[in-house]
Order: sequence, then C-alpha cells, then structure tokens
Amino acid sequence: MTAGSWIRRMFEEGVVLKEQYGEENVFDLSLGNPIMEPPAEFRRELIRLAEDPIPGMHRYMENAGYVATRAVVAEYLSAESGITFTKDDIIMTCSAAGAINIVLKTLLNIGDEVIIFAPYFPEFINYIENHDGFARILRTDEQFIPRLNALESAIGPRTKAVLINSPNNPSGAVYKKDFFRSLGEILDEKGKEFGKTIFLINDEAYRKLTYDGIESPQVWSYYPHSIVIASYSKDLAIPGERIGYVAAHPELAEHDQLISGFIHCNRIMGFVNAPALMQHVVRSLQGVTVSTAEYQRKRDFLYDNLTDMGYSIFKPQGTFYLFPKSPMEDDVALVNELRQWRVLTVPGQSFGTPGYFRISYCTDDRTLEGSLNGFRKVAEKLKLS
Ligand SMILES: Cc1ncc(COP(=O)(O)O)c(C=O)c1O
Repeated sequence: MTAGSWIRRMFEEGVVLKEQYGEENVFDLSLGNPIMEPPAEFRRELIRLAEDPIPGMHRYMENAGYVATRAVVAEYLSAESGITFTKDDIIMTCSAAGAINIVLKTLLNIGDEVIIFAPYFPEFINYIENHDGFARILRTDEQFIPRLNALESAIGPRTKAVLINSPNNPSGAVYKKDFFRSLGEILDEKGKEFGKTIFLINDEAYRKLTYDGIESPQVWSYYPHSIVIASYSKDLAIPGERIGYVAAHPELAEHDQLISGFIHCNRIMGFVNAPALMQHVVRSLQGVTVSTAEYQRKRDFLYDNLTDMGYSIFKPQGTFYLFPKSPMEDDVALVNELRQWRVLTVPGQSFGTPGYFRISYCTDDRTLEGSLNGFRKVAEKLKLS
C-alpha cells in the first residue's frame, strides 16, 4: 500500500493544502480525473431513459451484459476494424479496472507471468498480483515505446500474457501500426517456440484521446490472440459511472472457454454485471467523445510553457498526461520542490520509472495557468535555462 499509492497520496495532500491555503491557491495536477462534463448526447440519453424508462431496466441481466448493448458494440468494432465481431466477443464490465481483473483472473494460474512495460499504470501490478500472477517489468525506449528485442528475450515458458497500454498512462505515447505488426510477429513466433498461446491484452482506456490528427491503431489485424480492454471513463468523462467492456478477437485461442471464464469472473468477483443504466446509455453513444481539441489545447499550453522554462518533455500524442524528465535526480525531491509552490504532481517512481514525474492536465485552465508560477520558480532555482 505504501509503495503503490503515490497518486492518491498527492490527491489527499491536495485536499489538506486546499483547506489550509484555499482552493484557488492549490494547483492539483496529480489525478487523472477528467474535469470536463460528459458530452450533451450523454445527458440527453440519461433524460430520455429517465422520462421513458424501459420496463425492467433496473433488474439483473445476463452476467455478460445486455445482448442489445453487446451487439451494438460488436457492430461498432466490426465497422472500425473490418473484422466481424458478434455479441459473443463482448462482455460489458465495470470499466477498464473490472475488465482487466476478470481477464487476468480467467487467464492466470499461480506464478504465471504477465509482461508489462515501465512506465506503467501502477494498478497493473496489483491487478496481476490479485490473481497470483507475477509482473515481469521491461523498460521502454526514450519515446516510451516498448523495446521489442527485450520482449523477445524476456518471453519464457511461464509467460501467459503481455499487457500493454496505448495510448499510454503516464507517458502519453501512442504505439504505431509497425509496432503492433512486429509485436504480433514476436508473440506468434514465441508461442510456437514454447508450444502455447501468449495472449496480448491492450488496455485502451484512452483510445479516443489522441491529438495532432493521430489515431490509435488497434491490435485486431496484427494478432488474433488479442483481448482489448475498453472504457467509457475518459472518452465520455464518466469515470464514476464504471462502464466499459472486454472485446475478444473472434479467432482468439480457446475463445468460447475464455469468454465463459470472463463472464463467470464478472459474476464471482462481485461485480455481477456492469451497471444496468450505463449499459442502456452507452448503447447509443458509440463513437461519441468529449472534445479532444480542448485537451490538445491544454496539452499545448503546458508543453509550450514548460519547455520554454527548460523542462525536458516528450510531446505526448494521447491521454491527458505529460511525463517530463525530472530536472533533479530524485523525482520525489522534485515533486516536493513543486509542492512548496502548491503544485501537485506524481513522482515517476510510482510508474516504475524514477527520474521522471507525471503531470495530469485534465483540469481547468485556472489550475493550469496558476501552476506555471511554481514550475517557473523551481526551474529558476535549478537553473534550467
Ligand atoms: C491505463 C489505465 N487503465 C485503466 C484505468 C482504469 O480506468 P476505468 O475507470 O475505466 O476503470 C485507468 C485509470 O486511470 C488507466 O489510466
């Protein structure tokens, strides 16, 4: 708990600082909690359902979720990918967190290895350990892209899955088609070498949040043993509502057995089913997203100002995070320096990557603008430019 809770710790510290100094004097860039309101279509759908309820819409349903919702998701994915999905490839879940957990519980036997890449979403380690798995951590390159030669030598007889996350939290990197192609080839070769299937899990929680006209490629055409984790939390700015899904490639090895496993785990892990109301709401919201132009504007504002001050930052193409190099060797010391100016960020070591720190810019402009003073003071103290 002590190791894993930096993000929450900073968030809680923010609450204390706000009480002490007033909300307007604290610049909390620690948590990835979208400030935007959901798109108008979301509210319209909520109102429509409240005013004209579907009989039985609050009852239990199949553990996999409503057939109608799964069918719509399948149709959407088919149109996007050119691969035919059906409702039997889709399980509605309590968002990405629930989805990853049901997939790992189904796949993992005690001691099975799941390969992940640093920097990673810290909960990945908890999720893997929840199901008696072992997280094997590999590094990414300077652009935060997984090193495929390292992956090739790391895959062994205990490797059950490779868990990636593109667009990536915390780096903002978006993996390209060539990367997925090579990754698929490696997993295929290694699977043959070890006489087993190595599953690819892509956490696409930020799939729609990409910038500069870049689209996040999907795994489907590059590797059949792929499982995608999808979430409406960030796309629609509704993380408190807990709605997402698992999509399995129609040609996934042991497809039917695994799908039954996912459904069973949705039930026995205590979720039972994804929230009923949200399943009704998202049915008609496939492809609807918050304004990515607004996030891009916020990214550019912080990126331009901070690089001018002398911070060294990889320009992210997705998500709503920046992951600059820490100008102090110790990233915790840097985060503490910024905190002196009531700017709250998260040290890179909580993402398995010391020497960096994470800034979350899914917040209001006042907070972003207000944070510049603290960033500038620290930059001056460290003589960054
Ligand atoms: C990479 C990643 N995966 C999963 C999640 C969990 O998202 P959800 O709200 O969809 O469970 C998050 C949340 O921040 C995340 O950053």
